[in-house]
Formats: sequence, structure tokens, C-alpha cells
Amino acid sequence: MTTKRQYHIITFGCQMNKADSERMAGILEDMGFEWSEDQYDADVVICNTCSIRDNAEQKVYSYLGRQARRKRQKPDLTLVIAGCVAQQEGETLLRRVPELDLVMGPQHANRLQDLLHQVFDGNQVVATEPVHIMEDITKPRRDSKVTAWVNVIYGCNERCTYCVVPGVRGVEQSRTPEAIRAEMEELAREGYKEVTLLGQNIDAYGRDLPGLTPEGRRENTLTDLLYFVHDVPGIERIRFATSHPRYFTERLIKACAELPKVCEHFHIPFQSGDNEVLKRMARGYTHEKYRRIIDKIREYMPDASLSADAIVAFPGETEEQFQKTMQLTEDIGFDLLNTAAYSPRPNTPAAEWSEQLSEEVKSDRLQRLNQLVNIKAAERSQRYMGRIEEVLVEDENPKDQNQVMGRTRGNRLTFFTGDINQLKGKLVKVKITVVRPFSLTGEVVEVREIVSV
Ligand code: SAH
Ligand code: SF4
Ligand code: F3S
Repeated sequence: MTTKRQYHIITFGCQMNKADSERMAGILEDMGFEWSEDQYDADVVICNTCSIRDNAEQKVYSYLGRQARRKRQKPDLTLVIAGCVAQQEGETLLRRVPELDLVMGPQHANRLQDLLHQVFDGNQVVATEPVHIMEDITKPRRDSKVTAWVNVIYGCNERCTYCVVPGVRGVEQSRTPEAIRAEMEELAREGYKEVTLLGQNIDAYGRDLPGLTPEGRRENTLTDLLYFVHDVPGIERIRFATSHPRYFTERLIKACAELPKVCEHFHIPFQSGDNEVLKRMARGYTHEKYRRIIDKIREYMPDASLSADAIVAFPGETEEQFQKTMQLTEDIGFDLLNTAAYSPRPNTPAAEWSEQLSEEVKSDRLQRLNQLVNIKAAERSQRYMGRIEEVLVEDENPKDQNQVMGRTRGNRLTFFTGDINQLKGKLVKVKITVVRPFSLTGEVVEVREIVSV
């Protein structure tokens, strides 16, 4: 009996990277490889990397160091670095980690099979040139059987002065509405219930596609896409991320309020509450505009849940400017806010500026903001107490086998007693009995039987 060759993929970074990893896993399985839970047992190891902040990049090097040592004992190990650090560093990685067989940027994820064949022929390969991303024919190997990511636009054409993404992910490339709908229909046939449409700047969707309405409006916007895919039978919930305040429209808000499957959760990073800082970040909006967007959302959907990202200690940020970020956080009351201290990144303008702030200032501001975030999230959670929420069951609670877990429409993680074998993929009405800042516990009121079409 021959045992199959094994692969392992370790993924750092955002949902985009996770989606790429699932596609690469699909390709490897098509090639006859088998998933290995143990990363130190695999014959092919892919490290899919993130470069958003320096600490993310450093994690990659320590991981690669361990695998490189293993390769010295096991020369037939194929070691691959994919994703954003691969794109950023390119060939220099081969000098830094000579044990690497393949360095591949995110745009090359769908080409993995080709690239691996070149490696198996004895080459050390670097694939970082910009390419047109091919429509994918391989089936991804998805982590979940209930919720799935669907890419709608790759890349980013913004030029936020702190950010590596445009450099490493390339220019915007939208998939066609037909391809997106077809993928969702396939997911529904496989039993998936929830889809999250993905793009680094999802509001840019369709900018690169042809088509104008008779009134001269662009035809293929994110809003049009939502209307186009909304009625895919079997898909019960639709989410999307990440939104950019510069392009967020009332038309989109209206569509979300109108379309029952689109969840009332919005992830709209604001980055800073100070107009001068926003300008130097080249974000293209003011805090007033951001507040107007939130007001509009709450006008249409009073209970909508809101999350965002913010950066503290951007070069030159004064204490007063930081206070504006605190003020915005206080005023809006986010359900979740991802915070980070500014990290200078290669090939970005802000990294070159002289007014870099000290580590002390960074960690002090981060701590103060995080404290406020926790208080606000706890306050926001309170509104769920005693309420009946619809939860889509995804998995067992890893800490308690008698419980299952899933998310509310507002994206709050929720636990309740139940059998995963009976409940996986079901929409359950749950009465919330315990609230914590970022999660809830409840009890079953009713399990909705979904009739699959
Ligand atoms: N496309 C999204 C998010 C991109 S990256 C947007 O436009 O908002 C995810 C988050 O990482 C960003 O929202 C930002 O808050 C953070 N981030 C990006 N570059 C950073 C840097 N150089 N230092 C610290 N945080 C950063
Ligand atoms: Fe980065 Fe700005 Fe693009 Fe978001 S919109 S990925 S922060 S450049
Ligand atoms: Fe990181 Fe690349 Fe995503 S830098 S956040 S993995 S786009």
C-alpha cells in the first residue's frame, strides 16, 4: 500500500489569505495530496503569509526557520512561501531562507499546480510578477461546511499611506457577477448556508467591469451584485467585507435593509477620528462623513451591529488627535473594534516620515483605546440580554462538547446547549441568557427546518 503524499498549509493574515489557502488546499487535493494535521509530518508545506504589520512578518520568519531546519534533515520536503510577505520580499527570500523551493505572491494562488511542477522538475521558483487572476476551476477545500468565503474583488487601488496591501495584492480585479453567483449556487448545492463576499475594498467592486445604466450610473456596483445574488436558493445569509467609508453609499444601506438575507452587520474601518490624520493617511473622508454613514445605517437598521479597524500613533499623531479617535469610539459604540499601533511598512510613504512615535507612546495609546473598546463592547452586548436571536450553528464549542456555537446575524459568537450532529448548519432561535463583551450564551427556543431547494 502506498501512502499518499501529505501537505500542510499554515495561514497568517486576513480572510483573503484564508480564502487563498482554501483554494490552494483544493488544488493540492486534486493533485493527490492529503491533508496532514501535523505540520512537521508533511511533504509539502505552504506558509501563507501576512505583511500588514512588522510583527506579522516576523512570525513568518520564525516559522520558516523551523521548517528550514527540518528540510536539512528531510531534503525531499517541499517548502513554499505564499501570500503577502512572499510578494513583498520576492527573490530576497531565497537569500534569507535558501531552503525555500517556491516563493509565490497572492495573485499566483490559482497557479499552484503549475508552479509545483516546476519545483518537482528541480527548479527553485519565484512567481511574483503581476498577473490577471484566472477564474478558478478547482474546488477549494473549505474549513467550514456551513459558512464560506467568496472573493468578489482582488487587489486594491487605494493608496493609504501606511498600507502594504496595494503593493502586495496588486490592482483591483473584479470577478463577474455571473461567476460569483455560480460559485454561490454551487455552495448552496453542497449545503452551505452563509456566504461572506470578500474584497479589501469591496465598495470598489465592479469599477473595472464594463457597463452603465441608461441614467449613466455604473451598473456593476456592490449594491447591484447584492441584488443579483440575493435569491440564490439555499443560501440563507449574506455578509460582505471590507467596506471603505469613502465609497459607502446610501443605496447600499438601503439594499441591506431591503434584502432579508443580507445581515445587519457592517465592518467599516475608520482608522482615525481626526481629520488631519485621516488626510495624511490619504483616506479620502472626514470623521463627519464617517458619522453620517453610521447615522444613515442606524436610520434604516437601528439594531445594526458595527465593527471597524483603527490605528493609533500614526506618524505625527498628537495626544489631541488621538483623543479624537477615543471620542469617535466612545460616540459610535462599536460591537467590535480591531485596534493596532502604527507599524512602518516597506515601500509605504508614511514609513519614510520623520515624525515616528516611540514604542511607549504606541503601547500607551493602544492600551487606552483597548480599554475603551472593551467597555463599549460590553455595553453593546447588553442589548442582547433576554432577546431571541437567530443563530446559524457552525460547530461544537471546543471548550464544551455539550454545547454548539454559531453567530447571530449581527456576528456575535453565541453558545448554547445542543448536539452538533443534529444542529450543524441549522438556523436556531436562541434566547440569550448570558452576555459577555464579545460573546453570548443562550438556550434553544426553536430550530428552523430549512427546506433545501
Ligand atoms: N482594506 C481594509 C483593511 C486593510 S488591512 C481597509 O481599507 O480598511 C486591515 C487593517 O490593518 C487596517 O484596517 C488597518 O487598521 C490595519 N493596518 C494596515 N496597515 C497598518 C500599519 N502599517 N500599521 C498598523 N496597522 C495597519
Ligand atoms: Fe490598505 Fe487602504 Fe487598500 Fe484598505 S483601502 S487595503 S487600508 S490601501
Ligand atoms: Fe495581511 Fe495580505 Fe491580508 S498583508 S491583512 S494577508 S492582504
